[in-house]
Amino acid sequence: MTEIILKIRNLHVTFDTPFGQVLAVRGVDLDVMKGEVLGVVGESGSGKSVSFLATMGLLSSRARVSGSIVLDGEELIGKTPQQMRSVRGRVMSMIFQDPLSALNPVHRIGKQISEMLQSHQELTKKQAATRATELLDLVGIPQPAERATQFPHEFSGGMRQRVVIAIAIANNPKLLIADEPTTALDVTVQAQILEVIKRVQQQLGTAVVLITHDLGIIARVADRVDVMYAGRNVEQGLVDDLYDHPSHPYTRGLLRSIPRPGKERLTPIAGFPPNMISPPSGCAFRTRCEYATEQCEATIPELKLFTDLQTACLRANELPDFRIAQ
Ligand SMILES: Nc1ncnc2c1ncn2[C@@H]1O[C@H](COP(=O)(O)OP(=O)(O)OP(=O)(O)O)[C@@H](O)[C@H]1O
Ligand SMILES: [Mg+2]
Repeated sequence: MTEIILKIRNLHVTFDTPFGQVLAVRGVDLDVMKGEVLGVVGESGSGKSVSFLATMGLLSSRARVSGSIVLDGEELIGKTPQQMRSVRGRVMSMIFQDPLSALNPVHRIGKQISEMLQSHQELTKKQAATRATELLDLVGIPQPAERATQFPHEFSGGMRQRVVIAIAIANNPKLLIADEPTTALDVTVQAQILEVIKRVQQQLGTAVVLITHDLGIIARVADRVDVMYAGRNVEQGLVDDLYDHPSHPYTRGLLRSIPRPGKERLTPIAGFPPNMISPPSGCAFRTRCEYATEQCEATIPELKLFTDLQTACLRANELPDFRIAQ
């Protein structure tokens, strides 16, 4: 049986702002299995980052978080900031788009990895330094012992992201959350970083949450996908099933908007994601959905099993078969 490493239930996150209350996350449910790569997709503002910043305990005190987040059997909601510091970097780590902001410009790379190791493990300076070099090697940095003595500005963007991954996995966490880890990198470097993430998953058995806008990246790297819209999950399932026969009109729209070789025209989803201060009632996607009825305005659809996907759409079983227009 596959074990669940992260179980999120009914997660809500709201922000009080001068313009009103932003309902950023509105009842997210999701599981991450041990050792898998879960891709999380959705347009800008759908609540991807906020859901996982909440998981990491990294939201500002202005955020109100409720629901349940169980990591490796332990409830995280309600933990003190100090308790969360002990979980972060040890049981789970998170990496972001901009590796420079995660690195300290005045400390050598090796030292930064050693500090992460020593903050959670009893290691001598020498043991930590040796392990730091091994980690640099694991993430594909050539001449790791030499590179460990250098500073962040001596590395390229892609090499810096490798270093950030080395720091994130230093204590062999069970979960690595990667929030758009390749967005700031050029395409060839992107592919290399994805390979590193895949290697970490395969060699260390780390479960990975990969947040991205890019369904092509998900197809290459993920085992399962979670599609988010307006602060909720709208569809979940295995990558192959979800790409082959998506049930949710939003997932269908995302798949139709992927650039494909040989096809000049993409079909973007009409309209824009809603303002999260006053999102539409019922199914939030209804305002952009060609299949929406009055019922979609009144009822919030729950995730339900259709074929082999979990889909939150009242009309999922009435929709025509999915085709990508020529
Ligand atoms: N600190 C904050 N204060 C107020 N609103 C916020 C804050 N952080 C995020 N939001 C709002 O919460 C919603 C979800 O944001 P989130 O960053 O999770 O989106 P996302 O899916 O990660 O988008 P992107 O793909 O652009 O990164 C958005 O409406 C955003 O404007
Ligand atoms: Mg984000």
